[in-house]
Amino acid sequence: MAFASTLEGWNIRSLNELQLTNKRVLVRVDFNVPLDAAGHVADDARIVAALPTIRAIQAAGGRVILASHLGRPKGKVDPKFSLEPVAGRLAELLDQEVLLPDDCVGDAAEHLVANQRAGQIVLLENLRFHASETANSEDFARRLAELCDVFVSDAFGAMHREHASVAALPRIIPDRAAGLLVEREIAFLSKLTGGAETPYVAILGGAKISDKIEVLERLLGVVDGLIIGGAMANTFLAAQGHAMGKSLVETDKAQLARHLLARCEERGIRVWLPVDHVVAGEASADAATEVVPVGAVGEAQMALDIGPETVELFSAVLDGSAGEGWTAPKTLFWNGPMGLFEIEPFAAGTMALARAVARAPATSVIGGGDSAAAARKAGVTSMISHISTGGGASLEFLGGRMLPGLVALRGGRR
Ligand code: 3PG
Repeated sequence: MAFASTLEGWNIRSLNELQLTNKRVLVRVDFNVPLDAAGHVADDARIVAALPTIRAIQAAGGRVILASHLGRPKGKVDPKFSLEPVAGRLAELLDQEVLLPDDCVGDAAEHLVANQRAGQIVLLENLRFHASETANSEDFARRLAELCDVFVSDAFGAMHREHASVAALPRIIPDRAAGLLVEREIAFLSKLTGGAETPYVAILGGAKISDKIEVLERLLGVVDGLIIGGAMANTFLAAQGHAMGKSLVETDKAQLARHLLARCEERGIRVWLPVDHVVAGEASADAATEVVPVGAVGEAQMALDIGPETVELFSAVLDGSAGEGWTAPKTLFWNGPMGLFEIEPFAAGTMALARAVARAPATSVIGGGDSAAAARKAGVTSMISHISTGGGASLEFLGGRMLPGLVALRGGRR
């Protein structure tokens, strides 16, 4: 498996190399999940993704202590950001009680952990109720370290953050390892930057090129084809001289867009851009919509989704029927929606693309919270090879940055 060598190469141990019997195992998880208006967990994907690690530690006789952030409470206790709803959902999923002290450090946490029996689960309250967490405080990390013998990092979604529980804490604990989710994430994502089966196509959407320059640069070294949609495509189309009306366009990135297209041509990378759009005068659910070909966006209109011909074109790329000499991709990476899919009249393009990715006879990887949410909305998650739990983290990793949370896991007791 690619990760085994990557892991060894980075000098990071995997969970199964640790002795866990009767040990207090602090697992940094990313339970930063969306809550609905009633304060219930609206999407439990990140909680579900941590279950294999939790169960493996329980099976090995370890005592599981989970630590996470939720939202950005800015260093103050704020009940709105309590992990209580998460503890409730986790208890349902595991079918067992989850103990939640009212603070992640101090007497209550220490008392619960000291009296924790094998198999019991403790979930510490939101780490970001302390400003020292985001300040990457060594002292705060030491207080957390007092609660455990072993550290396991399974918070892939937070690994790009230089925060105390991600960066300072692992360094203090010699018995440290990557959890099973992190292992799976790295296995899939590192394949995307080298060694993926070809043809390999990346589908990029979302709002801006500027968010994805590093990833784009890196992908140009490995992909055979690039599908560009969403508002990001507007900038490429505007750079080619097409009228885009009031659409979101990064005018200062026109030169970059032309440069990227020229590099694709030099390298023989096929690029597919939208050929039509769903347009409206405003981004609202009751706006009147119209489908127009590329170049025909009116002055008072904005492109808010890809049109039906574009859906057909992009689907043909994914099933290998996009013209002579093109065969079905064996690897797909998708990041970023094709339109404003949260608003119903502009959702069809992203939903159709999610279904086309799911149908494709390829290893498919989705990175980024919006595309993952789109796949869930389209009901196709079980047909995707891997949906990353990291938004920013997956992009930084694919962009070639070594994540602080991975660097901190290196070394440790052998
Ligand atoms: C995320 O949701 O991307 C991670 O949990 C990190 O959260 P943050 O952007 O608030 O640091």
